[in-house]
Order: sequence, then C-alpha cells, then structure tokens
Amino acid sequence: MASPNSTPLTLAIAGPSGRMGQALLRALPQFPQVSLTCVLSRQDAPGAPRVETPEQAFAAADAVIDFTRPALSLAIAEAAAEQKKIHVCGTTGFTPEEMRRFRSVSAGARVVWSANMSLGVALLASLVAQAAKALPEADLEILEMHHRLKEDAPSGTALLLGEAAAGARGKALADLRDAPRDGLTGPRKTGTIGFAALRGGDVIGDHTAMFAMAGERIELSHKASNRDIYATGALRAALWAAGQKAGFYGMADMVG
Ligand SMILES: NC(=O)c1ccc[n+]([C@@H]2O[C@H](COP(=O)([O-])OP(=O)(O)OC[C@H]3O[C@@H](n4cnc5c(N)ncnc54)[C@H](OP(=O)(O)O)[C@@H]3O)[C@@H](O)[C@H]2O)c1
Repeated sequence: MASPNSTPLTLAIAGPSGRMGQALLRALPQFPQVSLTCVLSRQDAPGAPRVETPEQAFAAADAVIDFTRPALSLAIAEAAAEQKKIHVCGTTGFTPEEMRRFRSVSAGARVVWSANMSLGVALLASLVAQAAKALPEADLEILEMHHRLKEDAPSGTALLLGEAAAGARGKALADLRDAPRDGLTGPRKTGTIGFAALRGGDVIGDHTAMFAMAGERIELSHKASNRDIYATGALRAALWAAGQKAGFYGMADMVG
C-alpha cells in the first residue's frame, strides 16, 4: 500500500463542498507530498482555485479525487483517459450500463474505483466471501443504514458485499439478488441474497452481513464513525495509482 511519504503528486478535488469533498480537504494536511492545485466545482468553493471542467482539472493536476454523482464521474473518467492521468472515484449509484461505460471510457487512465474506500470494509468483504463459501446454504441478508440525504439504495457498499458473497458462491450478484420485500412475499428462496436499506439522521454508514441458518446466525458488521476513513483511503489510492500502469483497479488491488 502507498505510504504517506511517497512521490509528490498534484491533485484536484471534485465536489469540494460536498460531505466527502470537505472530508478530503480536512485529510490533506496528513499527506504533505500531495499538493492541491484546483477544485472542480459548480460553485465557489474553498481549498484552491476553481475550475469548471474535468479537462481543466487534469491540465492542472496529475490526479482527480471524485466523490460526486455518476454523470460527472463519467466525464472525469473520459478526460483522465484522454490525458492519461489518475482518477480516484468513490461515487456510487451507477446503473449497470453506466458502470460498463465507466470501464470503457476510462481505458488508458489509471482508475481506482471503490464503493467503499475504507480498509475496514475491504477486510469485511473478504470475511463475507469466506463465510459465504463456508456456509453455502445459509440465508444471506445485507442490512445497511445511512443518513437521510443519501440518494442511492441499497448502498454501493452493500452491493459490494453482495458481489463478494455471490462471487464466493460462483455466481453473479444479478443471478442471486432477491427483489425488495413488500406485501405478500411468500417464503424466502434458498440461495438468494436479500438487501434492506434504512435511512435516517446523520448515520455515516453501517453495514451488516447476516448469515441465517436453522438455530443460529452469524453477523459481520462494520460501522463508520467519521468520513475521514474514506478520505484517507482515497488519498492513499491516488498515491498508489501513481506507481501503477493504466488500468481499472479496486481497493483489493491496493491492499492486496
Ligand atoms: N466510496 C466511498 O468510500 C464513499 C464514501 C462516502 C460517500 N460515497 C459516495 O460519494 C458520493 C458523494 O457523497 P457525498 O455524501 O459527499 O455527497 P454530497 O455531499 O451530495 O456531495 C457531492 C458533491 O458532488 C458535486 N456534484 C456534481 N454533480 C452533482 C449533481 N448532479 N448533484 C449533486 N452534486 C453534484 C457537488 O459539488 P459542487 O457543488 O462543489 O459542484 C456536491 O457537493 C455519493 O455517491 C456517495 O454514495 C462513497
């Protein structure tokens, strides 16, 4: 994993006024070798001179860190590919088609995308995969809770955990994903993966993978108590990507 003392890097932050943009600005002093050269924003924003397009951001910086919305992230990915630069993206809520497009337009760039940039969730995903493989008959339910303003559901992290479990059972999540339950749903189908999304207050991000069997239950949980874990993970990812070839990477590539 990249150490905070590696090669110097110039950086642009997209969406600096958002919750994650603010967390990135707070985390920057821990990374003295990263210099913020501009912010990519629709409005006046703190931190550095403002630019309005991804092309302008990459003209001023080696890397863009982006926790925004899929439409802007796709435009950033395209510009990163054109200028052969680094795009660290934590945006969630892509449709499957948008995710395919993300992978294709970013060819030539160094991209690190993850629905969750924390090291704790990278470990949780591997524990969930281990449990899903060891307990092929267990009913898996993935519960998540986030603040009342979150726009996408289930969270990108819940889907990431579902993909880890489905992969460990030799399937794609699309084949195992249970429909949201409401009304007369009947008994649960064996082997499916269910999701429940709770929204309220200012919860930053709680996730539990519950493996339910006859007579017992295993619950693997992660709870975020601040956003700094995602911000420092993204900054480490930008430094790590500087030493990689062009490619589309995830947190698992970075942490091994
Ligand atoms: N991967 C992870 O570890 C992780 C962790 C937390 C959150 N997330 C994800 O990161 C994304 C941002 O989360 P957040 O809580 O920081 O969101 P937020 O507070 O709403 O901030 C998003 C920022 O994106 C910019 N933006 C660009 N286009 C936009 C649009 N069409 N609508 C709204 N904003 C737009 C805005 O910045 P300007 O106004 O400056 O242009 C806005 O402040 C979400 O997808 C969230 O799920 C990922």
